Amino acid sequence: MTTTLADTWGLHASQFWLRGKQPENRVEFAAELGMWNVYGHPEIEEILRDPATFSSDTTRLVPKEMMPDADLEAMSAGNLLQLDPPLHNKMRKLVSRAFTPKVVADLEPRIAAITHEMLDAVTTPGRLELVEDLAYPLPVIVIAELLGVPASDRHLFKGWVDKMFESSEQLSLVKKDEKQDEAIKKSLEGQKSLTDYLGVHVDERRKQPREDLLTKLVEAEVDGERLSRNEVVNFANILLLAGHITTTMLLGNSVLCLDTHREWDERARADRSLVPPAIEESLRFLTPFAAVARTTMREVEVGGVTVPADQLLMLWVAAANRDERVFTDPGTFTPLRDPNPHLAFGRGIHFCIGAPLARLEGRVALNILFDRYPALRTIPGEPPKFQVNPNMTGVRELPLTTA
Ligand code: HEM
Repeated sequence: MTTTLADTWGLHASQFWLRGKQPENRVEFAAELGMWNVYGHPEIEEILRDPATFSSDTTRLVPKEMMPDADLEAMSAGNLLQLDPPLHNKMRKLVSRAFTPKVVADLEPRIAAITHEMLDAVTTPGRLELVEDLAYPLPVIVIAELLGVPASDRHLFKGWVDKMFESSEQLSLVKKDEKQDEAIKKSLEGQKSLTDYLGVHVDERRKQPREDLLTKLVEAEVDGERLSRNEVVNFANILLLAGHITTTMLLGNSVLCLDTHREWDERARADRSLVPPAIEESLRFLTPFAAVARTTMREVEVGGVTVPADQLLMLWVAAANRDERVFTDPGTFTPLRDPNPHLAFGRGIHFCIGAPLARLEGRVALNILFDRYPALRTIPGEPPKFQVNPNMTGVRELPLTTA
């Protein structure tokens, strides 16, 4: 049996597809979690393309006793990820205006400047802690500057976001034990701190508009009506969250994939046109946002299995990205895979709005790393550490030698 990256780094034992295994069933009910797991590529694609049958409003199924203190309605207002049409289309238009191809392309020099600034600030000679030194700060600074909140507050965001995702427990609709209560409590605390923080900035923009995305959201109108305070705050919350943690993983994972596939590292260094396909393949190979959720609005057949109405479905895009019905030799890292229809950014109406920005950050940062460090390598005896949350696949510490 070949040694997989998962074996080498002890990565997510729960994510069996990383060990080259295929799921026994593409669609199955996990009774212990009270929800369905979907692993197949065609099945997931079909679900993502049918928002009328598969709603993104997952909060409607969360039992009240699981989160007795949470005001789920207030938390999901304006949360693009949880909205269904027709409100979703209207809200998405708003934010799409802020992420036009030109706005994203114009960020390139700033992304390069931040990358150099971060790398210039590294003090330990011959070493880099890729996540702390670059992969975390870069996307956070970019999204904070876009929104208009101080990038220097990033240590605060990190504390709150870590709290939200530090649980290693699988998401579940079945009430289990105190450990689960504690994980939910911590996650909600992190969420609340971030929401309160953004609320202060939103209130300031109402009084004193500026040239930033928060002001645009405050002033934006949907059908002649301004967004409510809750909607603006939650909207900003999603951007700040989605805008950084996943891109941090994309950067770290791309460097790790190239480190463990040296032939591709050499080829991409020599021919920089291989950088974007290497990033795409790393998104397929180590998919940062491993799963997205949907709920059934009616009884429906998925991959030959009947799923009743009002069920929660976890769509494991990370597994779909290894589906051998779609990808030849899915356990092999091959940047020149063409086509590469990975689902790392989703599909359909909720397709990731920040994909062009994430791709740009990845391309700029990887090129600069190549330029500055001809010998960037992992360090024997200092393996990377991975996110503990099973819904995420990504490094959270990646010590490297540059000598
Ligand atoms: C949606 C992944 C970067 C903002 C999504 C979805 C995925 C995803 C899978 C679809 C969720 C669903 O269908 O339920 C990623 C990955 C990223 C990344 C892997 C980096 C590698 C970003 C960035 C931003 C962003 C940089 C913003 C600046 C959003 C937003 C949505 C979204 C606002 C919701 C879109 C909608 O519901 O219409 N992302 N994302 N993402 N992403 Fe990203």
